[in-house]
Amino acid sequence: MFEQLKDLMQSLYSGESAISLHRPSFTQEEESAVAACVRGSFVSSVGPEIQKFEQLMADFCLSGHAIATVNGTAALHLSLHALGVHSEDIVLTQSLSFAATGHAILQTGAKPVYIDIALPEGSMCPVALLQFLEEECKQQENICIHKASKRRIAACVPMHSFGEPAKIAEIAEICRNWSIPLIEDAAEALGSFTQGKHCGTFGICGILSFNGNKIMTTGAGGMILCKDETLAKRLKHLSTTAKIPDPFEFRHSEAGFNYRLPNLNASLGIAQFKKLPNFLSIKKGIYKEYKKFFQPFGYNLVNNPEAQSNHWLNTVIMNSAEEKEELLQFLKEHDIQARPAWYPLHRQQHLQSAVEIPLPQTDWLYSRAVSLPSSVPLEARRYD
Ligand SMILES: Cc1ncc(COP(=O)(O)O)c(C=O)c1O
Repeated sequence: MFEQLKDLMQSLYSGESAISLHRPSFTQEEESAVAACVRGSFVSSVGPEIQKFEQLMADFCLSGHAIATVNGTAALHLSLHALGVHSEDIVLTQSLSFAATGHAILQTGAKPVYIDIALPEGSMCPVALLQFLEEECKQQENICIHKASKRRIAACVPMHSFGEPAKIAEIAEICRNWSIPLIEDAAEALGSFTQGKHCGTFGICGILSFNGNKIMTTGAGGMILCKDETLAKRLKHLSTTAKIPDPFEFRHSEAGFNYRLPNLNASLGIAQFKKLPNFLSIKKGIYKEYKKFFQPFGYNLVNNPEAQSNHWLNTVIMNSAEEKEELLQFLKEHDIQARPAWYPLHRQQHLQSAVEIPLPQTDWLYSRAVSLPSSVPLEARRYD
C-alpha cells in the first residue's frame, strides 16, 4: 500500500521535487497586493487594509465582529485575558492540539484540564465533557467550580482538529447549561461549517490562524471572531496597547498588548481571501482522492461526516503505532513530508493537566494518526 500511496502523492503533487505537508499558494496577485502596501508605506499596525480584512472575515464567518491579531496564539491569549481568566482558574481544553492552545491558557496563569476527544472527528468529546462536569464540578451563583480544587472553570476551549468541525453545538449547549464561557480554537478551521454555522462562531469568541501552513495565510496572523460589540471593542482596545484615542497624547487605560495585525500582513490576507473558495474546492478534491485511495484498504481519515470541513490537513488513522512509524519513515525516505499528530499536551511536563482524567481516545488517535501532504497543488487545474 505504501508504494501506491507514494504514487498517488507524486501524481497529486507532480512537478514538486520535495512534497511538503502544507505550503502556501501564491501568484502574482499576492505580490502586487503586498508591493502596493509597501508603496503606500502603511506597513505596521495602522492602515486601511486591516479593517477591510476584518470586515471580510466577519462577513464570511457571519461572526458580527472580527479583530485581527499578530497570530492565532495572541488571539487565544487575548480572548482568555479579556474574559478575565486568571491564575486561580481552570480552563477546559483537549490534549490533542497544537501547544499554542495550552500555552495561551498557561500565559493567563490558569491551569489546563484536558477532556478526551471523540472519534472520528478527533476533537473534544461532549460526552466526556459532561461526565467531568457532573462528576467533579458544581454550579454556584452562575459560576462553575471544580469541587476538589475549588478553582473556577473559567472557560472551555475546544479545538477543531485538522479543520474537522468538533461536535460544537453539543459542547456549546453543555457550556451554556454549566455557565462556562466557550472560546473555540478554530485556528485550523477557516471555511469549516457545522449546522449551518462557521466554526468559531458558537461561543463568546472563536479564533482563526493565518500562519503560513493554514488554508490561507497572512504570513503570520490571527483573528478573533466575536458577536458582542462591547467585547469586540474591548478586544480591539487591548490589542492596540490599550491606547486611549487622542490626536497627540500617548495615554493608555491599562497594560494592553501589542497584538494588532500589521497592515502589510492584512494586504496579503485580502489577496489570499479572494482565492479561499477555490482553495476550499481544491482541498475537497484532495480529500476525496485520499478517501477513495484508503477505503479499499480499510483505513479511515479523521473526519466529521455530519459537517462541512475545509479539509485543511488530511489525517489517516493507521492500524497500529508500528504501522504509523513505518509510514512516516517510508514517506520521509521518498522526500514526502508527513507528520504525526501533535504530541499530546498532557504528556508534556509544563502543560500537565491540573486534574488527571484518563484520555484513552486521545492516546489512541495520537498513536495511529499520520497527517498527509494537503497543500493546494502547483498544478491545481485538474480539480477546477
Ligand atoms: C490548533 C491551533 N491553535 C493555535 C494555533 C496558533 O496559531 P498561530 O501559529 O497563528 O499562533 C495553531 C497554529 O498554528 C493551531 O493549529
